[in-house]
Parts: sequence; structure tokens; C-alpha cells
Amino acid sequence: MATPLAFVAGEGAELIATDGTRYLDFVSGFGVTNTGHCHPRVVEAIRDQAAQLLHVSTVGATQAASAYAERLCALVPIADAKLFLANSGTEVVEAALKLVRYASGRPAVIAFGGGFHGRTLGSLSISTSKAGFRAGYEPLPGGVYTVPYPRDELEPTFAALEQLFREQVVPRRVAAMIVEPVLGEGGYVVPPDGFLPRLRSLCNEHEILLVADEVQSGFGRTGRLFACEHSGVEPDLITLGKGIASGLPMGALVGCAELLDAWPPGAHGTTFGGNPVCCAAAAATLDVLEEERLVENAARRGTELLEGLLRLGAKAHGRGLMIGVDLASAEAATEVRERLLERHVIVSACGPESRTLRLSPPLVLDGGHVARFLEVFATCM
Ligand SMILES: Cc1ncc(COP(=O)(O)O)c(C=O)c1O
Repeated sequence: MATPLAFVAGEGAELIATDGTRYLDFVSGFGVTNTGHCHPRVVEAIRDQAAQLLHVSTVGATQAASAYAERLCALVPIADAKLFLANSGTEVVEAALKLVRYASGRPAVIAFGGGFHGRTLGSLSISTSKAGFRAGYEPLPGGVYTVPYPRDELEPTFAALEQLFREQVVPRRVAAMIVEPVLGEGGYVVPPDGFLPRLRSLCNEHEILLVADEVQSGFGRTGRLFACEHSGVEPDLITLGKGIASGLPMGALVGCAELLDAWPPGAHGTTFGGNPVCCAAAAATLDVLEEERLVENAARRGTELLEGLLRLGAKAHGRGLMIGVDLASAEAATEVRERLLERHVIVSACGPESRTLRLSPPLVLDGGHVARFLEVFATCM
């Protein structure tokens, strides 16, 4: 657990503990409650849908799932999109790994060092953010090659890719590259400009599919609806989860129709995917993001927060409301987190050495919340 607390309620950017104390939540259930806790619009949509229809599975279509699928496909930066709905981030990453191999007939996948894509065996095989996540589960599925994520400069990553193609795997055996547009669990790292465009052209050159894992960066977190929009790059597939339904379990694999159509009926499936209650929550989530201009708010409050932290001398970095603060050690990070908690502010940590404070507050954050956070943070450093 990130804290020793137990909670009974949540409202906007705050969590309420059993003793009634209100905490400023800068974790958002690990990047999930983007619309704030228990947004009335989302709660109402869940109630209405639950009273009408709870579950159908692939027995037939539902209005909630069809309407949501059409809406999400029109929003992603992929032309002529189609999707597959599941119940979590790791499940849609798993689905992506299956689809790229199925559609291309190629066995290999390239991932990036420090990436995190989930805990099921396939997702874990491409996750290298912490060795501890993998320990005890080897051997993990093979065919995975890893090159460094560009933390400061692009050259080492592209040199490693060239070397990989020369020494370990020929490009025509590579089905896909899977990448987080902003590194999440691996330390909240924004790659240098030009990373995704250059990766896109390398993939095009070798007919390799490009998968953007936006499970954490999607749905407004970085100040654009999807983080790959910052670069103008169109991936072949996008994996989505976390903030998609404001807290109900859901994931979506979205991609160009031609690719999704490579799966004949029955080639992949799930009992609960496309659950109407989750789809109703996801549709209400989009309503709230749009009507309350929360994506723009994430960009604005993110800049305020980042600038405020830099003014305090913190080693802060990030995009939108996905901000990391590097401390000297894991012990220092734990100490600052404990001091913040004593002052009723919750943050978590990330990065390979767990020494980066991870700030991912709900996108409903207002100027007062930013000021409150910075004031408390200043006393805890
Ligand atoms: C980028 C990314 N992909 C996939 C996942 C896995 O999502 P979940 O834990 O919801 O299955 C995560 C979770 O942190 C993530 O950050």
C-alpha cells in the first residue's frame, strides 16, 4: 500500500479517511481518477446503466458499448480506427502482443528499457522498470528485445536499435515496437523531441508496427487527450486503460481497422470486455473531460505545478499532470512522502531506484490545490 490509511469516500481531488481527515490526492489511484473522485456525472451514468443492463458479453451488442466504441475511435489519432474492449491495461497490452504477432506473422517485439506494461506474463516480458517485478516469474515469454528509453538524448537509443538489427534480430522478424510516449512507472520521463517521429520512420522503413502504450498517459493526463498527439505521430495501435472509465475496470486496444480485422471471430476474446456499465462510465468520463475542459486544465495546472516546483529548487520534470521529482535516494523519497502524508498530501514514488516522487493528481485540480501542494511541499523538502 502507498499509505497505511483506509478510506471511506472521495470527492474531487480529495480522499477522506475513516477518521474523517481529508487528504489531497496526488496519486489518483495510480493515474485513474482523472475526472476526480466520484464525479456526480460518472456516478449517475453508472447508476442508470446498472439499473438497465449489467452484462451481456458476446451474446450480442449493447447500445452502451457500440456508442462508446464509435466515439472513442473518432477521438484517437488513428485514421479509420476499430477497437477491442477488455478489463485492464495489462489485458490490452497482452491483446496487442497477440495481435501484432498474429497479423504480421513475425515473432519478435522490441520494448524500451524502464518501460512498464503490466503484470501478466506477456506484459511482464516487455516490462523492465524494476527487476523485482520479474523476479520469481522467469522464464518469461521470449522474442522480446529491449533497447534504452531515451532519457536525455536520442542517439544511444537509435544506435542500440541499429546494433540490435545487426547483431541479434533482423528487422523482417520484428512484429512491433511498443513504447510509452511518456515513461510512467520507469520515472515519469518525457523523451527528447523527435523521438516518436524518428521511431515511426524506422518502423515504416522495416514494416514494423508501432504500438503506443497510453494506459497511463492517455485521457488527458499529459495535457493532450493522448500523449502521442504532442508529436503528431500516428501509431498503428494504442493501448488504453486506467483513466478510461474514472475508476471502473476497463481497457481498450484501438488500431487501424485493417489491423484489427486480421483477427477472425474467436481469435481473441474476453467474457467481461465491453461491459455496458464500464462503457457508460467511460462515455460519462469523456463528457466530463470535454465539458469541463479538463485536458486543457491538465496542461495549465501541470505548467503551474512544474514551474512552482522548479522555483523551489526541486528536480522536477514531466508533461501535464504527469510530473516526477527526483530525490537523492529511495530513503529520501520515502521521508518526503511521509512528511507530506503527515500534512495530509498523498504522493507515490516511481523509477528504477524508487527515488522519484510521482505526482499524478486528478485533472480537476484547481489553482488552490496547486498552491496548497506547493506550500506543503516547500515545508517537506
Ligand atoms: C503504461 C502502462 N501500461 C500498462 C499498465 C498495466 O495496467 P493495469 O495495471 O491496469 O493492468 C500500466 C500500469 O501501471 C502502465 O502504466
